[in-house]
Amino acid sequence: MKRALALVVVATASTAATVALSQSFSVQLGGRKGPQQPIAFSHQIHAGKLSMNCLYCHRGAEKSPIANIPAVGTCMGCHKIAKTDRPEIVKLTGYYDRGEQVPWVEVYRLPDHVKFNHKRHVKAGVQCAECHGPVKEMPVVYQWSSLKMGWCLTCHRKKLDDPQFPATMDCVACHH
Ligand code: HEC
Ligand code: HEC
Ligand code: HEC
Ligand code: HEC
Ligand code: HEC
Repeated sequence: MKRALALVVVATASTAATVALSQSFSVQLGGRKGPQQPIAFSHQIHAGKLSMNCLYCHRGAEKSPIANIPAVGTCMGCHKIAKTDRPEIVKLTGYYDRGEQVPWVEVYRLPDHVKFNHKRHVKAGVQCAECHGPVKEMPVVYQWSSLKMGWCLTCHRKKLDDPQFPATMDCVACHH
């Protein structure tokens, strides 16, 4: 627990510096701390230390509008054998055995009047990190970008004349 806390502190300090440099205009200060999740799942361990590909768990990101949170069965592919005696894995196995999904707390959420599409961005070569920050270094995922209209438009304006994947400033592209 002590080590986990230290990791949180280090990761927050180092990403805070990057965020301050690249997005000081748009980041909300309160947004840097992620919510408490029902299982202490760490992206720093899985995507960082174990080098798992984001798409292993968020396969929807390249195929559909929604990236998708993995089902508990995806976790159990490994955790039927890996670290089965750890308290958090015992909790995880409990959900699985009861046929329940883990009630993960949402981190990113656009208002209902905005349309977003992961596939379009991923196919155009926009990296997960451009929108979600250094997730591989996050013990707890937090909202890294502001999700404000100005944030979307800053990138869209830069990519208006992209020969292959031109972005758009059309209101109706993003609004219902
Ligand atoms: C082993 C499976 C796994 C891998 C690999 C993984 N994730 Fe996740 N991801 C999850 C789970 C489970 C959650 C929900 C719990 C949480 O927020 O930590 C999640 C949540 C997220 C969220 C927040 C979703 C929300 O609620 O708004 C983002 C953003 C995200 N992941 C991005 C990434 C990126 C980028 C990578 C690769 C660098 C990655 N993930 C790799 C399992 C994974
Ligand atoms: C152009 C910016 C952008 C890129 C690139 C991007 N995302 Fe997202 N992501 C968002 C936004 C915006 C939301 C909130 C969507 C909403 O509320 O409708 C989101 C939500 C999510 C969520 C939670 C909701 C969901 O859609 O399931 C996950 C998980 C996620 N992203 C993972 C990823 C991963 C993994 C990648 C890379 C393969 C990625 N994202 C690339 C902007 C982006
Ligand atoms: C590809 C295999 C793999 C998948 C899939 C996977 N994990 Fe893990 N997970 C591991 C390994 C290996 C470790 C131990 C890493 C270490 O301690 O260095 C671990 C560690 C953990 C821990 C910390 C356990 C502890 O207390 O030491 C938790 C919690 C966890 N995983 C939850 C999850 C959840 C939730 C999912 C699904 C969203 C998931 N894992 C998917 C391989 C996996
Ligand atoms: C880092 C750059 C970047 C960011 C940030 C970004 N986009 Fe995009 N977006 C693009 C690019 C590049 C395309 C063009 C893809 C193509 O041509 O297939 C695109 C395309 C789109 C499209 C499809 C438009 C059409 O022609 O139908 C929508 C909708 C969209 N973005 C919404 C959003 C929203 C909403 C946000 C903010 C929450 C956002 N984008 C943030 C780069 C970005
Ligand atoms: C690339 C995507 C994108 C485009 C293009 C876009 N918007 Fe938005 N817009 C957003 C997002 C994301 C939000 C929600 C976040 C926020 O309120 O800043 C939003 C919010 C809004 C709001 C609500 C603001 C509030 O305070 O609640 C209005 C009104 C709006 N947009 C009008 C427009 C008009 C008019 C255009 C065309 C000139 C336009 N938008 C083009 C992404 C876009």
